[in-house]
Amino acid sequence: MIDRALLLSLSALVCVWVFQAIYRIYFHPLSKYPGSKVAAVSDSWWEFYWNYYRNGELLFEIDRLHKRYGPVIRVGVNTLHISDPEVYQDLVRTNSSFTKDPHFYLNISFPGTLIGETNPAKHRVRRKVLAPALSGSRVQELAPAILTKTKQLIKRFEEVADRKSPICITAAAKAFTMDIISKIVLGQELGCVTEPNFRNQLTEYLEAGFKIGWVGTAFPTISSIALKAASMTSFVLFPMPLFSFKRACLNITGRYLETFNPHQAGSQLSSAARQLQKSYGERSAVIDMLMDPNSAKDHQAPNLEELNDELVMLLTAGNDTTSTAIIYGLYQVYTRPAIYNRIFRELTEEFPSLEEDITYERVRKLPYLTATIKEILRAGCPLPGRLPRTVPQEGYRLYGNYLKPGVNIQMSPYILNRHPDVWDKPDEFIPERWLTDDVARLDRYLATFNKGARQCLGRELAWCEMWVVFGNIFRRFQITPYNTTDKDMEWKDLILVAYKNKFYATVEKKLT
Ligand code: HEM
Repeated sequence: MIDRALLLSLSALVCVWVFQAIYRIYFHPLSKYPGSKVAAVSDSWWEFYWNYYRNGELLFEIDRLHKRYGPVIRVGVNTLHISDPEVYQDLVRTNSSFTKDPHFYLNISFPGTLIGETNPAKHRVRRKVLAPALSGSRVQELAPAILTKTKQLIKRFEEVADRKSPICITAAAKAFTMDIISKIVLGQELGCVTEPNFRNQLTEYLEAGFKIGWVGTAFPTISSIALKAASMTSFVLFPMPLFSFKRACLNITGRYLETFNPHQAGSQLSSAARQLQKSYGERSAVIDMLMDPNSAKDHQAPNLEELNDELVMLLTAGNDTTSTAIIYGLYQVYTRPAIYNRIFRELTEEFPSLEEDITYERVRKLPYLTATIKEILRAGCPLPGRLPRTVPQEGYRLYGNYLKPGVNIQMSPYILNRHPDVWDKPDEFIPERWLTDDVARLDRYLATFNKGARQCLGRELAWCEMWVVFGNIFRRFQITPYNTTDKDMEWKDLILVAYKNKFYATVEKKLT
């Protein structure tokens, strides 16, 4: 009897599933759009296959589908993906009322953080609070510290050059960006550049968490339970790398708040705490702004967990993005002697002596180096994929067809940065394209940092790091890939770019 009931229930379930699949493929309002039939039935299974089983290949499959079907394809039950520079401009224009898709962002980030917040009003407040910590003028103030960090890195390069042993460029670049972002966000740098292998426990957690990549969006239910569990990490031991990373940050954040409580600053701060503050001489503008209830209208100081969530997201956003650009840039330039020689000539003209400091103020004025960095950002594209946005209340007309509120539209910097309507020879690395009269148009279409209200907040910082580190390395060293070829530099999209293998190189010092 029970078996019969079970069988009936299962048959009913299968029938519902089949009818639902038929509806989604043939009768759903998005059924007129070409694309993947599997995705039209279930986003999860499609994502599971391409991003989990094939480990980060969904973006390339989307690119293939665009080449087959044109600028708009269906990539989910309720989701389209576009490959059209003009539609992109429309979605990200300053007063656009498109919002971030909450289902997607809440599976890859923490709720309430600048990156994860999907409510525009709340996002505006959080952005106002954090913007001064990463603004252009703040970056100018940070530039000397970035140069000091670069000099530490240069010292490590000189040591391997003297020993004639190879260096892991991947680890060195990640150590460099981690030291800079940890100082800005946590008020103390993690000291990775001076570690023997350029890494410490915290960066190992981060790297292990990063390898998990798209698990969050392939398994949304598991992921949302896991992220909720993560917010209890102060008292629950959860054996996952991201959670270990969160816990380690929580220790640092807790200690910071004990000694640098901005409510007390200057008045009731205990003399011991004041002494500590003096001896560290270190503050985090990020934490101080977040904890100050007056830093923006309608801002409420977060509790320790919420604060820590924000810091973890900022550390993640500021580390693997810029380091990817550095790794990609060093490989591309040093494997193209004509490009390297031109940069070297430009640098030696501006900085004839090796004793001179290659500073942010001066290096940023070099046109060919700047053009090369733009090309690195276009072709290397550290955050390559999908960025889904939700159609607002008023709906949206896409090529004359009305889309209802709630439909999601994805757009990928990797695909936009290679669109043939904008980019001539998109698969080639050509810095010179940025030295023509066409540069304003190209700048407009470069999608690397995204545009509009949700564009990257760390853009100025990333540019400063790249100018200073590239300027110093290109001026001082000849680098040759060691057991590293184009094959090793192939990549997958694990939310951030994940190269197939690490980039190793040998280093020779320039004598003049
Ligand atoms: C080359 C380096 C970088 C690239 C290519 C990059 C790219 C991006 C992109 C494409 C977005 C939009 C994401 C979306 O719409 O979902 C973004 C947002 C963001 N980035 Fe970056 N980023 C870089 C460096 C940094 C750095 C150094 C920081 C410093 C903490 C940072 C912090 C952020 C933050 C906080 C957001 C969210 C902004 C908001 O929603 O208001 N990024 N970034």
